[in-house]
Amino acid sequence: MELSKEDLAVLISAEGEECGALFQLADQVRQRYLGEEVHLRGIVEFSNYCRNNCLFCGLRRNNWELSRYRMAPDEILESAHEAAGLGCKTIVLQSGEDEYYTAGILAELVHRIKKGLDVAVTLSVGDRPRADYETLRQAGADRYLLKQETCDPVLFGMLKPGSSLAGRIEKLRWLGELGFQVGSGNMVGLPGQTVETLAGDITLMRELKVEMAGIGPFIPNSQTPLGNCPGGTLELTLKTLAAARLAMRLVHLPATTAVRTIHPLGRERALRSGANVIMPNMTPLKYRTNYQLYPGKTGLGETPEESYATAVKAVHDAGRKVASGYGHSLTYAKS
Ligand code: 5AD
Repeated sequence: MELSKEDLAVLISAEGEECGALFQLADQVRQRYLGEEVHLRGIVEFSNYCRNNCLFCGLRRNNWELSRYRMAPDEILESAHEAAGLGCKTIVLQSGEDEYYTAGILAELVHRIKKGLDVAVTLSVGDRPRADYETLRQAGADRYLLKQETCDPVLFGMLKPGSSLAGRIEKLRWLGELGFQVGSGNMVGLPGQTVETLAGDITLMRELKVEMAGIGPFIPNSQTPLGNCPGGTLELTLKTLAAARLAMRLVHLPATTAVRTIHPLGRERALRSGANVIMPNMTPLKYRTNYQLYPGKTGLGETPEESYATAVKAVHDAGRKVASGYGHSLTYAKS
C-alpha cells in the first residue's frame, strides 16, 4: 500500500519520541532495500554565473557582491580526473544557468570525461531547450539533476521569477523520456511552506518516478531578498528525508551539504535517517568561496582530497561502507 499525501504529512509532523521512531524506521528501510553502501558522487561547481534571479540563491544575477568565475573545459576535466583518482564513481557537473557553456561545449566535455574515465556523469545545469538535453544525453551523460525546489506553484513562481512549476515538471518529464536517470529535490523550511507542501513534494517526486531526491534545509542568505527569513531546521529536514525514504524505497537520497552546514553532525544524522549518498566537493579551492548558494557552506577550506576524506569518515562514523559501483538507480536498471 502506498503512503498517501496525508499519511506523509502526519509522518512529517512527528514530535518528540515519534521522531526517533520515524528516523529508525527510515534507516531500516534503507538498510533492507539498499544495504550499507553509501555512494560518493564528486561534484565540480564549474561556473557561478547565472541568468536567473531566484530569491533564495546566492548565485542570483543581481548579487553583485559575488565575484564570478568560469572554469575552462580542460580545468573541469582535470577536476574530474582528480575526483575519479580519489575514488568517485560519479562526477556531477554543476553550475548556475550559464549560457556561455553551449550544449556543444558541454557535450564535448561529457564525451571526454566518459572516454577517459570509468565514471557515470551527472549534469546539473538548469533549464535548457529539449534539443540541448538530447545532445547531452547522446554525448553520454547518464543523469540530470533539476530540482523542483517546491511543489507549491505559487511559491515556485514567487521564488523563481520568470519560470513556472509546470515548466519545470515538463522538463523533468523530457529528461526521463530521453533516458536520463533524473534527480529532483526540494528545500525544507521555505517561507510560506507547510507540512502539506513537504508531503506534496514527496508525492510529486514519486509521481515523476525520480531516481534521486535531494532534500535539504533552506538557509537564508543575506545577499538575497530572503536574507531575513528563518531557515529550515535539522529536525524538519530529517523528518522529510525519512518520510521520503518510506515513500520511495529505492530512491537515492543524499545527505546534503546544506544539512551539514546547519549542524556539525547533520550529514551523519541524515545517513541514519534514510540517506545513502554524499556529494563530496571536488571544486578547486580557489573557486569554492564564490559558489556560496547560502552562507556558512561547509568545506570551503577543504581541498578535494580533504572533502573526499571527510565524506569517507562520515560514512564510517555512521557504521556504513563506501559503495564500489556507479550507483545507478535500481529502478532505472529494471526499465
Ligand atoms: N539554501 C538552501 N539550498 C539552496 N540552494 C540554493 N540556494 C539555497 C539556499 N539559500 C539549493 C537549491 C538548488 C541547489 C543547487 O542548491 O535547491 O537547486
